[in-house]
Amino acid sequence: MNRADNIKQFISEEQIQSRIKELAAKLNEIYKDEELYLVGVLKGSVMFMTDLAKRLTMPVKMEFVRLSSYGSGTTSAGKINAVDLSLPDLGGKNVLIVEDIIDTGNTAKFLVDFLNQKFKLKDLKFCSLLDKKARRVNDMQPDYYCFDVEDKYLVGYGMDIDGKYRNLPYIGYIEV
Ligand code: IMP
Ligand code: MG
Repeated sequence: MNRADNIKQFISEEQIQSRIKELAAKLNEIYKDEELYLVGVLKGSVMFMTDLAKRLTMPVKMEFVRLSSYGSGTTSAGKINAVDLSLPDLGGKNVLIVEDIIDTGNTAKFLVDFLNQKFKLKDLKFCSLLDKKARRVNDMQPDYYCFDVEDKYLVGYGMDIDGKYRNLPYIGYIEV
């Protein structure tokens, strides 16, 4: 018996992988042979980042930062907690931030501002698997994303509730 029984599947593993394949093809076309630094936001982006990275053909380097905005509930605290922002010198580099989901946009804004202040990047883009536009509080938009989602709390494929369900290969919501 699967302990994720109460999760209603919303985006299947096949749909996720197929959109990632399309996104990777687009990025391969855009960056061609230029080196690209992927900067993933732990822990939610880890599944997306690794699946995407496997399909990229340019020289890729992978870095991670650890930020938190959500506490143990499902409402954004609005304030970003920078748990670990240690990165190599990204001056002159192409950087692609990789996120699981952009919701209020606070995390995206924090990281884009941080990277732009700290480094003189060659190029900075923001990529998110999911875009939950309904709750945006600023003008952040992902440069690339795979799915629009409605205002529902989602879990799976990296996303958690109280630390659980990150390992699901699909995305779902908790059926009440
Ligand atoms: P934002 O700062 O409000 O845009 O939220 C960004 C972060 O909140 C994401 O990286 C997720 O970690 C988390 N988050 C937002 N919506 C959801 C959701 O529906 N499920 C799980 N995590 C979420
Ligand atoms: Mg996240």
